[in-house]
Amino acid sequence: MRQLKDRDCNVAGMDIREVAVIGLGTMGAGIAEVFARAGIGVVAIEVDSGALNHGLGILDASLSKAVSRGKLAASEQAVIRARIRPATGFSEAAAVDLAVEAVPERMEIKRQIFAELDRVTSPAAILATNTSSLSVTAIAAATKRPGRVVGMHFFNPAPVMRLVEVVSTVLADDGVADTVATLARQLGKTPVQVSDRAGFVANALLLPYLNQAVGLLEAGYASPEDIDRAATAGIGLPMGPLALLDLIGLDTALSIMEVLHTEFGLTRYVPAPLLRRLVDAGRTGRKAGLGVYDYSRTPAAENADVIDYSGGNGVSSSAPDTVTLIGSGDDAEADLATALASAGVNVTRNAAHPSELVLIAASVGRPVLPAALAAGRPEQSVGLHLPGGLAPGKLAELIQTSLSSDAAVAAGHALAARLGLTVVCAPDRPGFLVGALLYPHLADAVHMVQDGYATALDIDTAMVLGCGYPQGPFQLLDAAGAAAVLAGLEAMHTAYGYPSFAPPPLLAEHAAAGIEFRSIGRNHQRLGADHRSAASAR
Ligand code: 3HC
Repeated sequence: MRQLKDRDCNVAGMDIREVAVIGLGTMGAGIAEVFARAGIGVVAIEVDSGALNHGLGILDASLSKAVSRGKLAASEQAVIRARIRPATGFSEAAAVDLAVEAVPERMEIKRQIFAELDRVTSPAAILATNTSSLSVTAIAAATKRPGRVVGMHFFNPAPVMRLVEVVSTVLADDGVADTVATLARQLGKTPVQVSDRAGFVANALLLPYLNQAVGLLEAGYASPEDIDRAATAGIGLPMGPLALLDLIGLDTALSIMEVLHTEFGLTRYVPAPLLRRLVDAGRTGRKAGLGVYDYSRTPAAENADVIDYSGGNGVSSSAPDTVTLIGSGDDAEADLATALASAGVNVTRNAAHPSELVLIAASVGRPVLPAALAAGRPEQSVGLHLPGGLAPGKLAELIQTSLSSDAAVAAGHALAARLGLTVVCAPDRPGFLVGALLYPHLADAVHMVQDGYATALDIDTAMVLGCGYPQGPFQLLDAAGAAAVLAGLEAMHTAYGYPSFAPPPLLAEHAAAGIEFRSIGRNHQRLGADHRSAASAR
């Protein structure tokens, strides 16, 4: 992050010398740190001294961690800390040039705070909300200066994630969003300017995907660790969806889902019942020490429901020495045969020959069970799907049919581990586990382009910089191929009948035309505009 001298932030003609941050929870403390590190004075406001001390504790811990990792000089830590002026009253914000509100997602609280900020700050000051999904327009309307109210949406952890969504409303004065975007750049962030729509770009895509992961967990589709591993080892994301929920806070995630559902009314945005129950139970994530995972015992994920295939589930297994390999004669099957042979496994292709395990080289869109039945030993059969190819560390989805025995699953798991693969278990359903998480997420991204809200390139930028994706959704989609993603979604839609799995028309068009989403820039907007009416009918 570029270090600026104190009080030198001249932003599009407006001097941002001092800011107020209201609310010092995880996000507010991070935002205060970002400003102070950039040389800007911060009035850090909390409701009482207890909350203030808690928030300053978050901030101090973050700075100390940076010092201990050699990223920040101890002397610099003191200078940054001295820029932060703690306060418990709004009157301390009287002289600020910008106020950023980061309190919990409750409209009535935010409107009260904005009315108060409007009263105490100079009429020229910009008032910004870090809301993750609420209407910036409704918040602005609580003030007498709606033209100077914007969204300035940071991502968790704020000192690390590079995206800032700058949200302008129909009430915004010319230039205010540009001023805030310029400031974001001065802070070392990349601003993406968007209009006021629930969830903006990143949360509108991220949260339904996280919610879908909770739905899979609730249905017993896969263990929490496997769901997270599918995302990290299978898609390359920095965190699994359930671990990320614990970082964001399940209560925050639930409120965002509720706002998305209220705004768009689609079944895709109905919060998973388990998400609500976990919040009801106070399991709100890392901040509570307990969310999907338990952080009170070890920092690593723990869950009593996890099946331990290395020795658990009542069935221990070593890798089988003789395997019947069944496939469709493609390269994936040939590669698997070679790898098994190199690992010292005897491979037969004849199901009538005796073997310890029938391994079916699986592919998306083709269920494993018919091949298992055809082999005549369905209880001894499992599928193996390699979404990223066959190489050490790559993900293997071990597909369990409704007839696979525990012993066969344990043997298949041990075998895949022997090949150096990272193994997750998935049922024999369309998309297996990676596709079940990824395809609807990609469809959401296509819908957003189709709705004309953002371009494919902007969406990729938002997800890379805001959520640490190594590749944006459209890079992932183009790499997989629109036709393959379309086929996966169609299979899921046929199997489950959920409207949210219906492939967007724009995806079908790209698949038919063989056009990559990222390759044609402006055409996305044109195609998107053509489909606006279709989107509104969803
Ligand atoms: N505060 C400050 N710095 C932090 C931090 C924190 N809470 N957590 C991690 N860091 C820093 C570390 O100090 C380290 O810095 P360095 O490289 O300068 O030494 C760097 O981040 C990487 O941290 P680690 O090596 O400990 O861990 P990882 O490499 O696993 O990265 C991560 C951690 C950055 C959190 C990464 O897992 C990631 O990008 N996850 C995705 C996070 C995400 O999706 N955020 C968006 C959520 S949505 C949202 O916030 C919107 C809201 O409205 C809900």
